[in-house]
Amino acid sequence: MNLDDYIKAVETLNLYAHHYYVLDDPITTDEVYDILYHKVVAYEKINQKDIQSNSPTQRVGDAIRDGFTKASHLSRMWSLEDIFDSNGLERWLTKTYKLDANISFYCEPKFDGASLNLIYEDGVLVQGITRGDGTIGELITPNVKTIQSIPLTIKHKERIEIRGEVVIFKDEFEKINQARLKNDEAVFANPRNAAAGSLRQLDSSITASRNLVFLPYGVGENTLEHKLLSDKMNFIYDLGFRKPPNSSLCNGFEGIEEIYKTMIRERESYAMMLDGMVIKVNEISSQIDMGYTVKVPRFSVAYKFPAVEKITRVKEIILQVGRTGAVTPVAIVEPTDIDGVVVERATLHNFDEIDRKDIRINDKVIILRSGDVIPKIIKVLRHERNGDEVAVIRPSTCPVCKSELLDEGVLLKCQNLACEARVVNAIMYFASKPCLNIDGLGVKIVEALFNAGFVKNVTDLFDLTLERLLSLEGFKEKKSQNLLNALENAKGCDYWRFINSLGIEHVGEVASKTLSDHFGFAFVEATKEQIITCDGIGEEMAESVLEFVRVNKEIILNLQNILQPLEPVKKEEAKENPFKSKTVVLTGTMSASRGAIKEVLENLGAKVSGSVSKKTDFLIYGEDAGSKYDKAMKLNVTCITEEEMREMLHD
Ligand code: IVH
Repeated sequence: MNLDDYIKAVETLNLYAHHYYVLDDPITTDEVYDILYHKVVAYEKINQKDIQSNSPTQRVGDAIRDGFTKASHLSRMWSLEDIFDSNGLERWLTKTYKLDANISFYCEPKFDGASLNLIYEDGVLVQGITRGDGTIGELITPNVKTIQSIPLTIKHKERIEIRGEVVIFKDEFEKINQARLKNDEAVFANPRNAAAGSLRQLDSSITASRNLVFLPYGVGENTLEHKLLSDKMNFIYDLGFRKPPNSSLCNGFEGIEEIYKTMIRERESYAMMLDGMVIKVNEISSQIDMGYTVKVPRFSVAYKFPAVEKITRVKEIILQVGRTGAVTPVAIVEPTDIDGVVVERATLHNFDEIDRKDIRINDKVIILRSGDVIPKIIKVLRHERNGDEVAVIRPSTCPVCKSELLDEGVLLKCQNLACEARVVNAIMYFASKPCLNIDGLGVKIVEALFNAGFVKNVTDLFDLTLERLLSLEGFKEKKSQNLLNALENAKGCDYWRFINSLGIEHVGEVASKTLSDHFGFAFVEATKEQIITCDGIGEEMAESVLEFVRVNKEIILNLQNILQPLEPVKKEEAKENPFKSKTVVLTGTMSASRGAIKEVLENLGAKVSGSVSKKTDFLIYGEDAGSKYDKAMKLNVTCITEEEMREMLHD
């Protein structure tokens, strides 16, 4: 690569990035971008004097500082007057028309993020400064350079300040918070805090990792001569900045109200959070004539959206039992109107979250309602506590059936097969393919049987009669008889299927087989010590089995009596062979059915599992092996073909 090639490569990379980050319309793949990027890095390493200021390598967040220095804006960064309803708008318009009757308006969303001032000199970004007090802010240039939607160079050569809002898109915000939850870090209360916090990092690589987006909304010092704000903004977008969605021009009250109402209606569909609409006089000469009060411009106003965050009080914490038996707490709060909807409850995900946020009954809290999602508590106002707050007690029994709960920290689960809250799901699982494989028990049918009072738990399925089924809507003779036959056919099943069908937390097909082979019908009497001696069964699984048996013993024995499963014959110990006691996964198309090969291996004493993990000893693959093969290779699992497997057995 020579200098010319290098400069061309930088331009090409910038074009790719512009399409990706600014126009939201990628024109290449990550791979093509990465290959070219690495060529540029290699060239710069040996030709440091040639490094261009717009090279994408200049965005890398490798600056780590002890603190920020202050810097002055070239011209003041103003704030805006807020209005909240149509009366406010009318008052503002009357006031504004008095100053100049001959005006039109430029309306655009008010983005909820952190404001930023960018100074370009001779077409190069020289400073990025936070708003601060409007006159002096913090100099965060290295962080700002990591934001891909901020051009490092622009074609306009005169000094200019470009202002805008740095935001985090809602999906990115959720991702950041999920990652923080996983790492036991405090979550950001909202995308605004996340954006502001990410911008003010001493370590630029953290800023770089947050996918911040810059949306320009105006200019500070400049030499532009446009007569209309709309033209000026189009000029800014053409310099390589991202055009924010939905700016529109209008005249007067009606037009403004219409745009405002549409924006509120559509606000959830925006990728970023909005907290209002900004109305600006479009004629620059009128703007100049109107000027500023001590605090705000007279030519612009923020028409705020109804708040989505409100302060309320936690009245009580109730427990909900989901279809799988998972018990989750829900906060009942004092009814609060948020954006026209009365909010009375807020989700809390799990008890660990209550502990982490230290939420107590009677606490004053901030709740956030966003779109159709259930509102959540984002902050506890601890300073408002007066001693009447009561700590929330972690439950040990199911609120619906009162049976003992399985408690695994984040997961609190009712395992009772007869619990009303989870019985429909329990039956569906019981009947599914890897369990008892009973045809004709789809969710609608199970719900109908449950609602009619015919099945209160799994065992009741076997008391169904033709007469009862025919009394249900949609059940004709044939359908009813088929279901009864399918139930009858489930009798005499393998014992491992019986164990698997119970739906014990953590116990799948492989563990069911292990338990079945190891204990046979004595499985319900097994102690923890005995269970953990089984290969592949750990402490957590053993606890889960014991808790399950404790709660359901009667039903299990009853079911066993009805189903008469086959007690596993103690298999003779397999002769020594390369697969004995090994964990094996099968993938791809083989010479015989997967089930047949599985049986061969199981007879050799192998455990055949459905998924690849670090514990897998062999992956045996046939034609068209896919993701399991890739995963096995990544984990350094020995991968062999079906033919190689057979060869190993013949040696
Ligand atoms: S114009 C003269 N337009 O809102 C002040 N501001 O409450 C120029 N903001 O500090 C502001 N979106 O950080 C303007 N489309 C938009 C905006 C916007 C968000 C922020 C900005 C400003 C604050 C004022």
